[in-house]
Parts: sequence; structure tokens; C-alpha cells
Amino acid sequence: MLPPYRIKVVEPIPFLSAEERRHALAGAGYNPFNLRAEQITIDLLSDSGTGATSVAQEAVAALGDESYAGARSWFRFVAEVQDLTGYPHILPVHQGRAGERILFTNLLKPGQICISNTHFDTTHANVHLAGAEPRDLPCAEAADLDSVDPFKGNIDLDALERVLNGPDGERVGLVLITVTNNGLGAQPVSMANLEAVRDLCRRHRVPFYLDAARFAENAWLVSRREPGYRTWSPRQIARRAFELADGCVVSLKKDGLSAVGGFIGLRDPDLHARCEANLIATEGFSTYGGLAGHDLERLAQGLREVVDPAYLRARAAATSRLAQMINDEGVDLIQPPGIHALYLNAGRLLPHLAAHQFPGHALGCQLYLDGGIRCAELGSLYLGRLDDQHRLVSPAPFELVRLAIPRRVYSDEHFQYVAAILADIAKDPERVPGYRIVSSPPLLRHFKVRLEPV
Ligand code: F0G
Repeated sequence: MLPPYRIKVVEPIPFLSAEERRHALAGAGYNPFNLRAEQITIDLLSDSGTGATSVAQEAVAALGDESYAGARSWFRFVAEVQDLTGYPHILPVHQGRAGERILFTNLLKPGQICISNTHFDTTHANVHLAGAEPRDLPCAEAADLDSVDPFKGNIDLDALERVLNGPDGERVGLVLITVTNNGLGAQPVSMANLEAVRDLCRRHRVPFYLDAARFAENAWLVSRREPGYRTWSPRQIARRAFELADGCVVSLKKDGLSAVGGFIGLRDPDLHARCEANLIATEGFSTYGGLAGHDLERLAQGLREVVDPAYLRARAAATSRLAQMINDEGVDLIQPPGIHALYLNAGRLLPHLAAHQFPGHALGCQLYLDGGIRCAELGSLYLGRLDDQHRLVSPAPFELVRLAIPRRVYSDEHFQYVAAILADIAKDPERVPGYRIVSSPPLLRHFKVRLEPV
């Protein structure tokens, strides 16, 4: 599958010796978040803000209008977002989590519940910070990592209905569906699931919002996997998804094809007025929201490019090829492969490590030590419960490692390199040591935790 672009500007990548990598990781407290970019050969930590921009994006960026209020670039951006989403009220933010904070503090009341297919980590934290309780209700199929069910990102509709009809029903202040489900394998959510959520929320008078960071990738997978949408364009599918919800919060660092950006989309004018006041006080005036004019221009252009079927087809195919290479080396990952990331089943690859030795983290560290590859653990280090001595008291359901794929950045040769490093680990997994926590912050542990091998 040919990517519909060629490379025009390149950036060198560093190659360190094994000794230098050992030293770098020890200095980072065995936490890849603490590594410096110049210590990394292939960076699969995140697909957020890490993509390549296009010549068209850089050309319009030069036209960026940096006026404090009412900039031309704002009007171009807002017209694009309104056309894509259909929401009358758009508030710009510098990134997704700023939108989450503003939306949740104005929509949720302390003591309320926010229900999701899966809250992303900052989303989870921002629901908490608003005084509400985040509750995940992923569909049952999501628990079977090997199942190739096409829509494992769906919310469990029966469970949602039970909560809405039950004693906690009155406390549900928001249903938030994450497309695609980043916390659970980059799995898409079907349009049928979104329609059913819309119906339930209407009946119970609960607001229904999308966390739509990967709206275009979800739309692509719907067009491939859901009967009834095969003739729809990704843009039409995305538009329909936004139409089903009452509003959205979107990080544009993913499908905005830019380094920064986000927005809140709303129908409710009163909520818009409250959020706007908060935005002006904390992010910036409502025609820039913490973004420069040149960012707004890149984003407006990026939102056109990201729904191009040729782009989405090539991106999905590239991820699938990497998944196939990894499978061929005998390493399992969450099936079926999504688009923005692959999730390695570290628990299965490293059975000699117990959950309290953090097998996902151990695999992530080994990928760095052996190949300078950076990625993120999604297992007991991220999701497990610890006691005061940082001992694991309740493990995560799965021990995973996420290989996030930046957009338009790496080629098949880079992916072959990743697969080869993994293959070496898979040949002799017992050489991978476990890890122990040395120090840990109370909130969003995985970002700042320090560890050591045991
Ligand atoms: N929602 C989802 C589903 C996300 O994946 C992210 C970020 C956010 C919200 C927050 O957006 O970073 O712009 O503030 N995900 C990145 C990742 C960081 O690596 O998955 P943000």
C-alpha cells in the first residue's frame, strides 16, 4: 500500500552503543519518560504531537495571523471544525487535557459519575479533579486480547443501562465515549454502539460526549468493518459520529496532524458560555485558546488531510504490516491491530515475571536497552494499585506494552528493525529482569515513577 506522499524534510535519529543506552536508562530511573530524545533511536512512546506535517500545512502556517483577537487563522480553523463536526460552538485549547479540565469542571458536579468505554489517563485524572468518579464499562469482548471481534472499543451497553436504571443512575453526569479506545488496544467503536449510547442517554437525560482524539482512524475502521458504512467516506462517518453526541473534547495532537492543539465542541449555549469564561481565564482568549495563529492554520489544513482515504488506508496498512512482522516472530499483541498503536502482550511473552515485577515495563526497558526503542507500559505499573511502600496490592488485568506509531514518520525499514529487536527478546525472554519501584508520585504514577531492576 503506497503512502500518498514522499519525504521532503528529514531529521537524523541517534544511534547509541549498548553501554550508552544502559547508562541512559539507569540515569532515567528506568522510566522511559525521563529519557532525552537524543538518547532514542525509534520513539514509539506516543503518537501525540509526534507526526510529520505536510508542505501544505507549512505553507499555510506562514500565513498565520497572530492578532490577539479575531485572527484570520481562527476563522479558518473554526470553519473547518464546524464543517467536520456540525457543532455550533467551538472553543480552541492548546491540547486535549485542557479541554477535559474546562469541560468537566463546568459539566460535572462533585459526587457525579462519568461513564466511559475507557477513560484515557489524563481524562481519568481530570474527572477526579472535578470531584467526580470515572467508571469504565468496556464491552466483554475487549477482555479477550486474542479475539478478532471488529469493535472491541465498544462500551458494554447492558452494563451502561444497568447503571442508568440502578441506584447510581441519578448520579451519572456524563457518558464519554473514547474513539478509538486508546486505553484498551486502539480498538474502534461501532456506529451502532454510538447510536445505542445516544438513545440510552436521551432516555435518561444524560449528556453524551465523544473523546474524539482519533476520530478519523475510528471512521476508517468503521468503513472497513461495519456493514452499512462501506460506501461512506471517512469524513462522512466522522461527521455522523459527532452528530450522534451532544458535544466532544478533542486532542488535535493526533488526528489534527499537528504538534499542538485541541478543541471543545458544544451544542448547549449555556455550557458554552460557562466554558468560554473559564477558557479565557485559564487558556487564552476564545479565538486562540493558547494556540498561535500558525498552529490554527496547520490544524485547519491537517483536518482536511487526515480524512483522505489514501492517507488512512496507507497508515492502517503500515500498522498492520508491523503487527504481522511481530506476530511472525512469535510475539502476541492485542487483536485485531488498530491504527495508532500496537499493544504487546508482555504478560504472555515474559511468564517468568510476576505482576509485581512489572513485565510490561520490563519489556519496554528491554526494547530500549537492546535497540534504543522507546515505548510505554500499560499494565500494573500504570493501572495496578500500590500500598504505601510501593508494593503492588492489586495488579492490572493485563500486562501490555504500547508501541505508538507517529503519523507519516517511520518507514517499513524502521518497523523491520523494531520487529528484529523484539524477535531477539522473544528467543530468550528469561534474560529480561523484573523491576521494583524506588519512588512514586501519588497521581499519574507512570509519568514520574523511578525504578530499578531486580
Ligand atoms: N484522550 C485520548 C483518548 C488520548 O489518547 C489523549 C492523549 C488525550 C485525551 C489527551 O490529549 O495529550 O492532547 O492532552 N494521548 C496521548 C497518548 C498523550 O500518548 O496516548 P492531550
